[in-house]
Amino acid sequence: MKLVKTVNDLQKELQQLRMTGTVGFVPTMGALHKGHISLVEKAAKENPVVVVSIFVNPTQFNDPKDLERYPRDLEADLKRLEKSDITLVFAPSVEEMYPENDTRKFDFGMLETVMEGEHRPGHFNGVAQVVSKLFGMVKPDKAYFGIKDFQQVAIIKNMTEQLNLTVEIVACPIIREKSGLAMSSRNELLSSEERKNAAVISETLLKAKQLVGQKSVKELTEWVIENINKNPYLSVEYVEIVDDKKLQPVGNWEEENRIVGCVAVFCGKVRLIDNIVLN
Ligand code: PAJ
Repeated sequence: MKLVKTVNDLQKELQQLRMTGTVGFVPTMGALHKGHISLVEKAAKENPVVVVSIFVNPTQFNDPKDLERYPRDLEADLKRLEKSDITLVFAPSVEEMYPENDTRKFDFGMLETVMEGEHRPGHFNGVAQVVSKLFGMVKPDKAYFGIKDFQQVAIIKNMTEQLNLTVEIVACPIIREKSGLAMSSRNELLSSEERKNAAVISETLLKAKQLVGQKSVKELTEWVIENINKNPYLSVEYVEIVDDKKLQPVGNWEEENRIVGCVAVFCGKVRLIDNIVLN
């Protein structure tokens, strides 16, 4: 495993490595946990060359305090990665990634008018800016993303189509803590009491899945909101029940696509997201 910090070094290394076979790429913002590692391991199974990027991308944070608080520990991340079979870690500085302001504006239409797009203005534009740059630098054959960020996967797939990129986007399942809480770098910011109570989010989603059909979509949405909000540590930002292609709210359960229940919940100051396939 080799650490590179500049685009120049990354490309020098990759020039040789590319001859050995396909390049799998896992973009991350660090503070790595088992969720990230599951992507890295899948990439390592499917590609002789694996690149992991670690970069806390300022352009995707709509809340400056969230950017400031975001956990960063490169040393610990490198240690965690050493156990997996990866080739390169790319950990650039902000100046390296953005030698000039990125003024590009992406248009994701309906995909960004809901959920994270609606509640975090500019977030997906920042994600598209950084991921398009990273794809340009790494030129991966396959790139691995977690369904934990369900809407992000849809945005990235749409972006690769818009930009005519040939990279294959591989969507990977959500890795959870024993309690059911979806793993997230932000979980580190929770107190132990908060962490315990945050498990109510995934418990509620699981129960909701069993209530499909017994309750209408509207009733189930309201039930999820109530069930989470009655926990004093939790406060729902949104609950949306959407189809997995257009990401639009569904009116009933008669949907040919998959139906996914998505939530964003504040646990104290920490904003957590989770989702579950309901049908
Ligand atoms: P980050 O939050 O670090 O996540 C990196 C990747 O790990 C994403 O694809 C995310 O969906 C995946 N991931 C996070 N938690 C997971 C879990 N519990 N199970 C499975 N996969 C999980 O997402 C980002 O960074 C950034 O937006 C990025 C794409 C790197 C662009 O800056």
